[in-house]
Amino acid sequence: MSQSDNQAALEGDFRAAMRLLASGVALVTTSDAAGAPCGIAMTAFMSLSMDPPSLLLAINRTASLLAPLEANGRFAVNILAADQAQACQTFVTAPPDTRFDTLAWRMDDGLPLVESAIATILCRVEHTADFGSHRVITGVVDKAVVPGGEPLVYVDGRYGQVTRGE
Ligand SMILES: Cc1cc2nc3c(=O)[nH]c(=O)nc-3n(C[C@H](O)[C@H](O)[C@H](O)COP(=O)(O)O)c2cc1C
Repeated sequence: MSQSDNQAALEGDFRAAMRLLASGVALVTTSDAAGAPCGIAMTAFMSLSMDPPSLLLAINRTASLLAPLEANGRFAVNILAADQAQACQTFVTAPPDTRFDTLAWRMDDGLPLVESAIATILCRVEHTADFGSHRVITGVVDKAVVPGGEPLVYVDGRYGQVTRGE
């Protein structure tokens, strides 16, 4: 096997492994300099620390969200409900400037928030670092609102929902 074959095999195996990691899904949103809402669907977010309350995002450096998010300095992580798969897919495939057209959302303190999200976490950008294709953003939490509900889940390329144990 050549080195590039080895690399391709490693990438395929890694992708296959990560597809089996079930994730919650969020629309990460901000507003641009003109006040227009911006957002993408994301699974690459995780809590970082409780002291201070903070989280990590990994955003592809080519994603439409990155420039407005960094310019604004504030963003919202809107964790989606089980019945919001369609809204989620819109935030993957629709042109960025049309994504909010079919979504129920409201502007709150300068950030576009998703109605019916099961939780929304408002953050300030604290730190950024590049790795490979992505920018890793550390956000410090200003506020978390938790209406609750059943989460949307993404696993093996498909949307689903959790079946709870006893
Ligand atoms: C379930 C799912 C999760 C995603 N998670 C991320 C993510 O964590 N980070 C990221 O940069 N892109 C992620 N994407 C891709 C972006 O949602 C999508 O590529 C982006 O909206 C397209 O870029 P654009 O906004 O420049 O058109 C994900 C896509 C899907 C379907």
